[in-house]
Amino acid sequence: MIKLSPSILSADFVNLERDIRNLVGADYVHVDVMDGLFVPNITIGIPVVAAIRRITDLPLDVHLMIDRPLRYVEDFCKAGSDILTIHVEADTEENTLTALKRIRELGVKAAISVKPKTPAEAVLPFLPYCDLILVMTVEPGFGGQAFMEDMMPKLQQIRTYIDAQNPACELEVDGGVNETTAKICTAHGANVLVAGSAYFKAVDPLAFAESVKSV
Ligand code: DX5
Ligand code: ZN
Repeated sequence: MIKLSPSILSADFVNLERDIRNLVGADYVHVDVMDGLFVPNITIGIPVVAAIRRITDLPLDVHLMIDRPLRYVEDFCKAGSDILTIHVEADTEENTLTALKRIRELGVKAAISVKPKTPAEAVLPFLPYCDLILVMTVEPGFGGQAFMEDMMPKLQQIRTYIDAQNPACELEVDGGVNETTAKICTAHGANVLVAGSAYFKAVDPLAFAESVKSV
């Protein structure tokens, strides 16, 4: 089954509650946290995750694009994350492993993400400790960018690793996902699709959701 995780980065922040309550066809809510260091943009933080937690029962898929996330994983877990994703490029291997273990200890699904220039093999030390791997199909930082189809060999390689070593692990893509590129991603092994601008700009979001989730 293909899952859809709409990215609220493309929601109307003035009407965030309305936009989250209106989500249709969503399996998760994707929340992009940026610190202005790991990526050249600043978005939302812990209090907003906690506030969103109060208005939806959908699992919160929180994507931390922050430097040295170990400092904050406990706060984001306690704020109500269901899946907490950290970037492998954001700290040492040792600290990333510590962070993943801490996330699981707190009863939250642990995940790692790889930026476009990071090779598939970078996930291998972390795979046994992950419930989800997120492959970026844009440079993280902004919504509305063009899908990088050249990430598909990497996505497929990570699918091979997952099937061999941790088949329960989910494989998510994020960046430039629309009705056309969703099909390319699922054909290369993704089972969770993040969509920001394409979802929120869709004239009929339910039709969009049904289209991207049909294989
Ligand atoms: C980008 C974020 C994405 C973003 C995707 O750094 O991680 O989640 O919201 O937006 P679209 O779907 O518009 O590319
Ligand atoms: Zn994201």
